[in-house]
Amino acid sequence: MDSKLEQARNYEEVYGDRIPDSDRPLFHVVARVGWMNDPNGFSVYKGEYHLFYQYYPYNTKWGPMHWGHVKTRDMVKWEWLPAAIAPDEEYDNAGCFSGSAVEMPDGRQALMYTGVKEWRREDGYIESRQMQCVAFGDGVDYVKYENNPVLTSADLPEGWSAVDFRDPKIWYDKSENCFYAVVANRTVDGSGAILLYRSEDALHWEMKSILDRSRNEYGRMWECPDFFMMDEDHAILITSPQEMLSRGRAYHNGFGNIYMVGSFDRKTYQFTRKAVHAIDYGLDFYAPQTLLAPDGRRIMIAWMQSWESSHDHVAIGSWFGMMTLPRELSLKKGRLIQQPVRELELYRKNAIYYTDVDVQERIQLPAVQGRCVDMIVTVRPSGGKLYDKFIIKVAKDTRFYTSIVYSPGDSILTFDRSNSGLRRDIVSSREVVTRFRDGKIRLRIIMDRYSVEIFVNNGEQAISSTIYTDQGAEGISFEAEGIAIIDVEKYDIVL
Ligand code: FRU
Repeated sequence: MDSKLEQARNYEEVYGDRIPDSDRPLFHVVARVGWMNDPNGFSVYKGEYHLFYQYYPYNTKWGPMHWGHVKTRDMVKWEWLPAAIAPDEEYDNAGCFSGSAVEMPDGRQALMYTGVKEWRREDGYIESRQMQCVAFGDGVDYVKYENNPVLTSADLPEGWSAVDFRDPKIWYDKSENCFYAVVANRTVDGSGAILLYRSEDALHWEMKSILDRSRNEYGRMWECPDFFMMDEDHAILITSPQEMLSRGRAYHNGFGNIYMVGSFDRKTYQFTRKAVHAIDYGLDFYAPQTLLAPDGRRIMIAWMQSWESSHDHVAIGSWFGMMTLPRELSLKKGRLIQQPVRELELYRKNAIYYTDVDVQERIQLPAVQGRCVDMIVTVRPSGGKLYDKFIIKVAKDTRFYTSIVYSPGDSILTFDRSNSGLRRDIVSSREVVTRFRDGKIRLRIIMDRYSVEIFVNNGEQAISSTIYTDQGAEGISFEAEGIAIIDVEKYDIVL
């Protein structure tokens, strides 16, 4: 009998290869075959970027979690590697949940993940526990540490949850020659918290502080934390809360994504939160994770999917779930700015420019079309007179389209996929308040067959969503209520 990992590796090799390339996104990561959720272990190892993912190869629905694996040199062209780990030990029999990876000073790659253990009690009830585990490898094959788990409920404050204790994000601190990890937990009040641990060897861990907690204000359980410094004065704590409540247009109900900006005292390990914001305002964005590139860039990737619409989906073929484009992060006036990785620009082809185009009725511009597209649209009013609405429709044919509508009067930008040909009654539109009031807006729109990512005003806001419109729908149109003047810069992305 093959081991669980060998079974997964054999399966993905046979069935993954049967998926035509044209059925997958061109430059966004999807599972080799089957189901994908969170990005895991997004990190640099021996000069290449590695990405693992929550993976169930045998179905397009979530199942016992494995880790899938890809790597890349430029974050645009990705290469499959065999599945990295499978739920094959007593302490992870119900799944290898999310986690992270780091290059050890001795040259090994360490994976730190959540083992989920389940067992049936005498009364039939299924009990479960989550604990942190490690595995070491060479960038392809990994061996789980013989004394796993390395963090259990014994490492938690009194009374905190042994059931919701997951998603370790590990990093190596060169100045102290040690490892740190943040891990999510659920406290006695039923809501989330992020704990900071320190270790000399990635095996023996000591809790240093509670970085922050929800206190039932920003959702309940907090998942998938990440913690890093943007500069000496600004620490960023990221988490994906479950059961958020909407607040105006700032957050939506359900599975959310937030970042907290604050300061971090390295001596006391205290994080002082100063502000909280949403990371992405689209329909599909969850569980982001970052890495620090050798050139100093902080780069973030996320699962471009919402849990709520993932259970009842119609899969295109034998895969479901995809990642966002990796994004460069910077900080401006206390807010995160997100820009697609600059490497994408190396794959721009067929440049087309239009300037000072008057838009009133609906127009289409010659050669502005496609589904693997990087397009920048700059909109401004005509002669100082504000237009009422400016509308871009993408992935359009005679029947279907997805719209992006800007209404300068109230500064609201709406993404709407209700007419994109979805066969499920799921949330399909989202509104964002932009911070511009003079009718000028710059939208960078990146499409990759099954997704639309919008970067507003040079990355001040990001809006990411999936669309499943038939690939034949390639049209792009522009229209205004009133008169708007636009410039368009459009490229095909060709790999
Ligand atoms: C977040 C999450 C994680 C967990 C994983 C399981 O999307 O629920 O908290 O580790 O997915 O697949």
